[in-house]
Amino acid sequence: MDWIIKTDDLHKSFGSFEALRGISLEVPTGSIYGFVGPNGAGKTTTMRILTTLTRPSEGQAWVAGHSVLEDRRAVRRAIGYMPDEFGVYEDLRVWEYLDFFAACYDIPEGDRKALVADLLELVDLHHRREDMVDKLSRGMKQRLSLARTLAHDPDVLILDEPASGLDPRARVEIRELLGELANMGKTIFFSSHILADVEDVCSHIGIVEAGELIIQGSIDELKLQLMANREIVITVMNHEYAEAVTSLVSEIRKVDAAEIITPKNGRARVRVDFAGNDEELGALSQRLFESNITLLGFNEEEKDLEHMFMRVTRGLVT
Ligand SMILES: Nc1ncnc2c1ncn2[C@@H]1O[C@H](COP(=O)(O)OP(=O)(O)OP(=O)(O)O)[C@@H](O)[C@H]1O
Ligand SMILES: [Mg+2]
Repeated sequence: MDWIIKTDDLHKSFGSFEALRGISLEVPTGSIYGFVGPNGAGKTTTMRILTTLTRPSEGQAWVAGHSVLEDRRAVRRAIGYMPDEFGVYEDLRVWEYLDFFAACYDIPEGDRKALVADLLELVDLHHRREDMVDKLSRGMKQRLSLARTLAHDPDVLILDEPASGLDPRARVEIRELLGELANMGKTIFFSSHILADVEDVCSHIGIVEAGELIIQGSIDELKLQLMANREIVITVMNHEYAEAVTSLVSEIRKVDAAEIITPKNGRARVRVDFAGNDEELGALSQRLFESNITLLGFNEEEKDLEHMFMRVTRGLVT
């Protein structure tokens, strides 16, 4: 088995409203999978099905080889779940909070002290062990909540917006922690509505919108698939030059399309969809320099996720 979470055509309706409209996910074992989508896309609903908290209206799902419909106890043992809300245990001390959850997982009293110390060490809250939970900052609460999901040493972590509401520094800390957990051999399935947040840490992503999975795969694969062509942006003095550039490059092999974009303070830019390698790109710039068009810029756009997402949603990729 090379995937540890799999869903097959999941549907979920609330009355006549269809929150999930056929979600088929595959989360490879050992991956950090970012489940990305805007508010209301269906992320939490999917996670609640995977954690056996709610049943799908149609479809099936498996976690660590167990069906979420038929083998709920085994699924629960295999996962650590961090819900999107912190919960209501705020009259506990930090260590008591973890001790309580460890007890819920039937971890013997004699083992719990060392376990709680290890978990606090891992999420860097050792120095706050005697503090009341409600005195912690939001970032610390998120880390404590993450520690709680680890109490029974699950193989799979399902984390609902672990970085939401955090400042940039706390987001980085959570990201580093996810990386560390992946190094410990855990598979991490987490949601976010910020694409930029997942790009650095994830090996895989799935983008969900209005109850449907638009696209999924490894980040490298997706970049290749979606951005097979390179995107070159050429900046010139004015619109006239831009037209000259467009007609010149259109004659060049490997140029799939060229369009004029965003004229700015008199200047104009041409976006070129280029299918060639570095040598051919060199030849293209050579051609332009030899023409009598004054170039102000010749840049290759970065292939970042945000960009990729815009291409998908602009319908450039099907
Ligand atoms: N118990 C429920 N009853 C009715 N509608 C619900 C229920 N739970 C979720 N929904 C609806 O289903 C849709 C998907 O909700 P869900 O919470 O899964 O989205 P989400 O992707 O997690 O969004 P967010 O980014 O806001 O957390 C939303 O339109 C929501 O209003
Ligand atoms: Mg949600």
